[in-house]
Parts: sequence; C-alpha cells; structure tokens
Amino acid sequence: MRIAVTGAAGRLGRHVVARALRAGHEVVATDLPGAAGEPDGRVEWRAADLTDLDEVRAALAGAQGVIHLGGLVHPRYPEPQVHRVNVNGTYHVLVAAEEYGLEGVCLASSINAIGGVYSADPRYDYFPVDEDHPTYAEDAYSLSKWIVEQQSAAFARRRPDVAFSALRLHGLRDDAEAATSRGPDDGRARKDLWGWVSFDAAAAACLLALLRPTPGHAVYHVVADRTITGTASAELAARWYPDVPLRAPMEGNAGFYSTARATADLGWDPADDHPEIGPRERSRLPAA
Ligand SMILES: NC(=O)c1ccc[n+]([C@@H]2O[C@H](COP(=O)([O-])OP(=O)(O)OC[C@H]3O[C@@H](n4cnc5c(N)ncnc54)[C@H](O)[C@@H]3O)[C@@H](O)[C@H]2O)c1
Repeated sequence: MRIAVTGAAGRLGRHVVARALRAGHEVVATDLPGAAGEPDGRVEWRAADLTDLDEVRAALAGAQGVIHLGGLVHPRYPEPQVHRVNVNGTYHVLVAAEEYGLEGVCLASSINAIGGVYSADPRYDYFPVDEDHPTYAEDAYSLSKWIVEQQSAAFARRRPDVAFSALRLHGLRDDAEAATSRGPDDGRARKDLWGWVSFDAAAAACLLALLRPTPGHAVYHVVADRTITGTASAELAARWYPDVPLRAPMEGNAGFYSTARATADLGWDPADDHPEIGPRERSRLPAA
C-alpha cells in the first residue's frame, strides 16, 4: 500500500516510516517544513502544515491509506494552539482522506482522551479501564484527543466500507528497561496508571489498524500489558484508588488498560515489545 504518514519526522513517525518500508509499503512522509527524517530514497517527503487544508490535500495526494500522527502535546505548547493543530489538523486529514477515497485511516489518539496525566485529579470509574470508559478530560490535549475520536467516528459513518482506527497510545519508550527508568515513584505515575508502550509495538499497531479487514470506526488501547513499576498492580490500586472497583483481578504487574479489543480485532500482542512484522502488516487479509 502507498501509505501517507503525518508527523513522520516525530518520535513515533520515524518508527512507523521505517517499519512500513520493512513491511514492503511505499511511504509518503509529511511533516512541517524543515522537519524531515533520515534521507531514504524509498520515502517521498512532502512538507505540509496540518492546519492548512490545501497543504494536507497536497501531502496526501496519491496515497491509498493514511497514518496520522502529527500534532502537539500540551503542556509544551499553549492550549489554544494544541486544540487548533490537533482538531483542525485531524479534520483536514479526514477530509483529504475522503476526497481521495483512501482505503484505510489510522489516527493517533491517547489514553488521555478520557483524562489522565494532565488532569488535576483524574477520575476512573473501574479497572481495568476499557475503551468504553467515560471521558473526564479537562485539558486541551486530552480534549483534542477525545474530539479526534469523534471526528473519526463521524467520517466512518459517511464511508461505512472503510476501516477508521483511533489508537490510544501511552508513554512511548524504546523498551521495558527505558519504561522502568522513570523510577519507583509510584505516586507520580499514578495519574496515567503506570502505563507505557514500546515504539516498535505501537508502530506495529499502526500498520495492523490501517490494514484491519473489518470496516467502521474503532478505538483501541495500545498499551503494554505490564506497568512501569515493580509494585504489584493490586497494591497500587488499593493504595492510590481504593474506591475504584476492579472488574477483573489485577494480577502481578498487570496493566490498568484493557487491550482485549486490540488483540481480538488487530491481532496485536500487548506482551510483545518488539514484534516481528507479520502478514497482517504487509497487506489487508480477510477477517479470520
Ligand atoms: N509520545 C507519546 O508518549 C504519546 C502518547 C500518547 C499519544 N501520542 C500521540 O502520538 C502521536 C505521535 O507522538 P510523538 O511522540 O511521535 O510526537 P512528536 O512530537 O515526536 O511528533 C509529532 C510531529 O508532529 C509534527 N507537527 C506538529 N505540528 C504540526 C503541524 N501544524 N503540521 C504538520 N506537522 C506538525 C511535529 O513536527 C512532529 O514531527 C501524537 O499525535 C501524540 O499525541 C504520543
């Protein structure tokens, strides 16, 4: 597939571009002017500002699918700018994807779509958190990610034969060792529930979602099945969230985000931090 990747010069973008090439795809990589990844004859770089619809149209021309990762993360940027780039930018990607009749759309959301690390005091109604948990987002970044998911759902209703996926990514790290290097400070990480995911696993999820055989809009947790801390998850839950009911036992260092949907629909493995590239990342196969 000829895949357009936005935010291609970013941390995850570079991993996705490299993995897509290894999986045999062609890549049209797009990012802001001046931001380009490693020179590679197999990648066509196109500069575009996501807030300009015509530039996004030009960036996506000729693509068959899009993985949209470009955006801004509060609190590094002012909140109105975060909203404008993330919400308008995603709308523009979805408009262009529809105009060109793209066969698949994969968008970067975040576990913060329901509130989390940027909330004053995040609220969770149950553990493990699943994708149907209500949102209590209160900052511009988290709100933008919630809106991005609604945008995806709306565009999917207009084109029911196409797969639209919004991936709720979490704390991207190179590997488990880098994830645990945040230290044993369980209190600091409590807001986003001690979660993380490796770049390789997240990049695999992007390709699996783009090539998902079943159409329609879906939100997926893309989070490792283990926390970043050595403290048992049941102990963390009891200490920091004593009033939150457990819907399933939290054994060992089990993650607080359910990944059952990504496993069932995408064949994504939350236990594998460095997955091999499988056939479902190379081409769209019939549903199992
Ligand atoms: N890094 C994480 O831990 C994490 C966690 C959850 C979700 N996410 C989401 O995953 C995606 C990728 O994250 P990342 O860590 O690679 O981020 P990043 O900041 O490294 O990359 C984002 C890219 O978007 C580009 N960009 C910003 N504004 C733009 C604009 N107006 N027009 C065009 N391009 C623009 C930037 O130049 C950058 O290369 C983001 O949408 C982010 O919200 C990341």
